[in-house]
Amino acid sequence: MTNNLKYFIGNWKMFGDFSSLKIINNVKFHINKTKSKKSRIVFCVPSTLIRHFSSKLKNSNIIIGAQNCHFSDDYGPYTGSINSKMIKRAGAKYVILGHSENRIQKLHNGDTDFLINKKIKSAIKNNLNVIFCIGETFKERKKNLTNKILSGQINKGLHSVKNLNKVIIAYEPVWSIGTGMIPKHNELNKTILFIRRKLSKSFKNKNSVKIIYGGSVNSKNIHKLVAIKGINGFLIGGASQSAKNFIDIIKNCYK
Ligand code: 13P
Repeated sequence: MTNNLKYFIGNWKMFGDFSSLKIINNVKFHINKTKSKKSRIVFCVPSTLIRHFSSKLKNSNIIIGAQNCHFSDDYGPYTGSINSKMIKRAGAKYVILGHSENRIQKLHNGDTDFLINKKIKSAIKNNLNVIFCIGETFKERKKNLTNKILSGQINKGLHSVKNLNKVIIAYEPVWSIGTGMIPKHNELNKTILFIRRKLSKSFKNKNSVKIIYGGSVNSKNIHKLVAIKGINGFLIGGASQSAKNFIDIIKNCYK
């Protein structure tokens, strides 16, 4: 198992402009004031903000990440796309890949497992840390297919990925994102354990991969989530867009 370091990763999605830096600055102030135990704070912001924010936050304890990247390592004829090299050079240290909002089930032209695998390899090659999202839909959960779905996403997404130390698995049940619903204690316990076992079985991984949870994390439910064994942190959407909400999550996590 990793040490007690907890990840609090904000996923801003399509939110924010230059003035939103004040949100992160407020979080930074809080962290400095409380020397917030062992936490690693990452904000995955829109590409337009990576450069500005990462230079403003240089030498601070807040890390900037990106929310997606193209699979190609090279420049190419991909209108509107940015690759891992480009986000890295802009100052990102992390990148979210495989988020359900970018997968094929949600978007007509969305990411397949095959593409996600290529993106993960490209990101690692460019020395980025990958936040690899996996999760089942409501329908799949109802049909008792959660483990099967997660297993498939892990097998395909991490196929022949060498450096698993650069990967954080974010378990994000699709039905939990933005809905206010979180899995029941037992259910989440079992799923995290399943992912951990799967990684050690399929990748001979001795617990070095961090597993975080995402989906409707807030300051009211964090005490339940932090009680789950083996969770190394949280991927936080809506609540990361407000300094107060984000700080309250961290505070309540260590209560
Ligand atoms: P919410 O926290 O808004 O449910 O979003 C979760 C998410 O998608 C993080 O990547």
